[in-house]
Amino acid sequence: MHQDIKKVLYTEEQIQNKIKELAAVLTEEYRGKNPIFVGVMKGVVLFFADMVKRIDTPCQIDFMWLSSYAGTGSTGNLIVKRDVSANLKGRHVVILEDIYDTGRSLTFVRDHLLSKEPASVKICTLLDKPEGRLPGITLEADYVGYEIPNEFVVGYGLDYNEYYRNLPYIGILKSEVYEK
Ligand code: IMP
Ligand code: MG
Repeated sequence: MHQDIKKVLYTEEQIQNKIKELAAVLTEEYRGKNPIFVGVMKGVVLFFADMVKRIDTPCQIDFMWLSSYAGTGSTGNLIVKRDVSANLKGRHVVILEDIYDTGRSLTFVRDHLLSKEPASVKICTLLDKPEGRLPGITLEADYVGYEIPNEFVVGYGLDYNEYYRNLPYIGILKSEVYEK
């Protein structure tokens, strides 16, 4: 285990088993509907690749990149740094995310994609931190891998200062690491 990790929450094997379950559900739900999976960069990349290779019906993939700029107040504002390239009109869209925390990113992404007149938009997130939700955010994810406590986690795509994305498991970062 990496020295900066306090505790492993989910091992590589547990994550892969969870992905098999989620992908089986999505495969049945979207069979014959030609879904398009949209990944929100960068945290989702590992989850995205492992998920889509287990989807057993024809589908397409695309990506979005968000960026926040220091706007009014500490919350900042989100902008689309890189948009999807496909035409989503009439399509069944599944947003894949690494973690659903305050809800700001996913609410923004969902509203943005809805403006492209898709047939449907659903959300699949590997991790959900319900305690992190900002007041006023009512959106819920449609498919959730794990509900986790309000702790800062890294690994399997999730970063702290762009590090730890390469860890094959998900772990809680030692608080000394981000307090120093
Ligand atoms: P939110 O739901 O708008 O707060 O945004 C979720 C985004 O915040 C994710 O895509 C992550 O990039 C980041 N994030 C939230 N919680 C964590 C965490 O525990 N570890 C690493 N990144 C996190
Ligand atoms: Mg992310």
